[in-house]
Amino acid sequence: MSPALRTARKRHYLMCRPTYFAVDYAINPWMDPARPVDSARAVRQWERLVSLYRELGHSVSLVEPRPGLPDMVFASNAASVVDQRVLVSRFRHPERAAEADAYRQWFTERTFRRVATAGHVNEGQGDILPAAGLLLAGTGFRTEPAAHAELQALLGLPVVTLTLTDPRFYHLDTALAVLGETEAMYYPGAFDPAARATLEALFPDALLAERAEAEAFALNAVCDGRHVVLPPSAVRLAAQLEERGFQPIGVEMSEFLKAGGAAKCCTLDLHGCAEGEPVRLRRDTEVAEDTREAA
Ligand code: ARG
Repeated sequence: MSPALRTARKRHYLMCRPTYFAVDYAINPWMDPARPVDSARAVRQWERLVSLYRELGHSVSLVEPRPGLPDMVFASNAASVVDQRVLVSRFRHPERAAEADAYRQWFTERTFRRVATAGHVNEGQGDILPAAGLLLAGTGFRTEPAAHAELQALLGLPVVTLTLTDPRFYHLDTALAVLGETEAMYYPGAFDPAARATLEALFPDALLAERAEAEAFALNAVCDGRHVVLPPSAVRLAAQLEERGFQPIGVEMSEFLKAGGAAKCCTLDLHGCAEGEPVRLRRDTEVAEDTREAA
């Protein structure tokens, strides 16, 4: 008997068109500037992802891409957002530093309750994922442990530090996907023993991924409570998700894998912004509304 299907919750995602996407430098082990990106294909893959979110009933807002920032498409790294409070990221590498300004502008022009900028290196939802009434906070490669206390103070949620140990899984969202308040899937081999013990306690029924699945970015997944967007190659995990009442949807993001990213990296969940107060432009801001169709 198939399990009862889960219920999706409407989300509001912030994304950035990959107009200037390229692999021009190497700041993680996946990036090789000698291996070219097919820009047209990257745009098509990204547009498919945007259309899918809209077909699923979610809102997608777009931030204007800026030339010279080839990784700006990875919106998840730009901020942590909880309940209309925003902590804009501070990137570890100088190559990405200016992305913070572009995203800060987007947030400050809108009606968020509070917009602050991180004082410590903090790569947003790449490393910080809300779940179980907590913030799961990765460290080891990008986000500094000192950022965790800052997050707790601004966003008002207790932070659980999870140390990553394998450079191929340099952001938390490459090694763990939150599926619900008490559900997750992750690759244990990406974490130190203390983090593994914490994850076992928090998510005793977690789906555990194998190394090859994690290396194919199967954990860089986006879940709305019911649908799980993940790479089409993740057939074993997809079957296990189905057994639990989720609806896996395979989306090819192969061009972005060349930069060390996939669907989740391209998607900043504006947690808490889909219900309740919608995100609007401030009245004193004269900029074009950005929720136009991506195509
Ligand atoms: N090239 C980018 C970097 O190394 C990829 C970021 C991927 N984003 C993510 N959330 N894992 O910073």
